[in-house]
Amino acid sequence: MFAPAGKTANPIDPVALRRAFGTFVTGVTIITTRDADGTPRGMTANSFTSVSLEPPLLLVCVSKSAHSYGAFNSSDAFAVNLLHEAQTDLSNLFASKAANKFDTVHHDNVHTGAPVLADCLTWFDCKVHSRVDAGDHVVLIGEVQAFGTSPSAPLGFCRGRYASVKDPLPPGWLESQGMIVGYLIDSDGRLLLRSDGEGGWVLPCAKRRITDSELKLDGGNALTLVPDDTFLYSVFDVTDGDPGYLIYRARLAQDSAAVALPPGLRFFPVDQLPYDEIPTREIRSMLRRYARERASKRFGIYVDSNDGGRLAMVGDAQPWANFAQS
Ligand SMILES: Cc1cc2nc3c(=O)[nH]c(=O)nc-3n(C[C@H](O)[C@H](O)[C@H](O)COP(=O)(O)O)c2cc1C
Repeated sequence: MFAPAGKTANPIDPVALRRAFGTFVTGVTIITTRDADGTPRGMTANSFTSVSLEPPLLLVCVSKSAHSYGAFNSSDAFAVNLLHEAQTDLSNLFASKAANKFDTVHHDNVHTGAPVLADCLTWFDCKVHSRVDAGDHVVLIGEVQAFGTSPSAPLGFCRGRYASVKDPLPPGWLESQGMIVGYLIDSDGRLLLRSDGEGGWVLPCAKRRITDSELKLDGGNALTLVPDDTFLYSVFDVTDGDPGYLIYRARLAQDSAAVALPPGLRFFPVDQLPYDEIPTREIRSMLRRYARERASKRFGIYVDSNDGGRLAMVGDAQPWANFAQS
């Protein structure tokens, strides 16, 4: 057994204790809320824990020395945004004391008004259930009002360093969950569709989301996408049909005219999509929303739920604004 780093006879050394706590492997979250004047506030936190399913409760611990403590301690809502593996810079930003943490981060209101990050692994939008005073922290217990998730790889944290979680989705996981991962692949105002072999058109699907820059389509062809420009767009079930869809929007790195497409794939101008030949109602309505949002240069994220679904709009300052001007 290792030598004790602290014992009751002597005071516990907080530095050694912090080091010992740090051997517990966690994910990384950004917790967010709003000031009394509506200004978004947030910080990196790994003290997240799920608490209860009925009612749906979770908790985070907020340090009383954090600048945003006052906001978390007085607001009646907050959100927990779990980060994916490509978000270490975001974690560092929100672990800093920067005054303008939200300037470059796309976020929106979903249910409570707490800022939900447009790009993250999973989010929980909560109203405050209770607060427990606990030493130099307050334990914030939230009741989940809405949530959303994606199949990206989580960002891990252990011993003061970021850690990667290897292969978090075992092969076949998405299929076993019945999820189909589809892509809205846009190139110069043209959208890629795939023939279903029966006179209809469907979205190109991939087995799972591997990286942001290369997409291996079912059938083996790989397309190169603009890195860091792939966003979750829609999560929904199809009534009496396929079990569930996760749809990402992505941008082709090459000019569509320069891509040698395999048989069955074709680019359609976004304003001339063959709606009559798209058999699935939910995909038709998603494509109509896409065409509308593309014209207004403002995109949302739709998450289906048993009370009819939620649409979160993504801020104007997002990178696709440039592309939409072309
Ligand atoms: C990985 C990681 C996890 C953290 N977890 C917590 C936490 O659970 N609670 C907390 O109060 N601070 C936590 N912090 C520290 C805060 O992010 C940091 O103090 C931040 O500057 C607070 O922002 P603010 O002062 O602008 O509110 C964590 C930092 C890192 C890097």
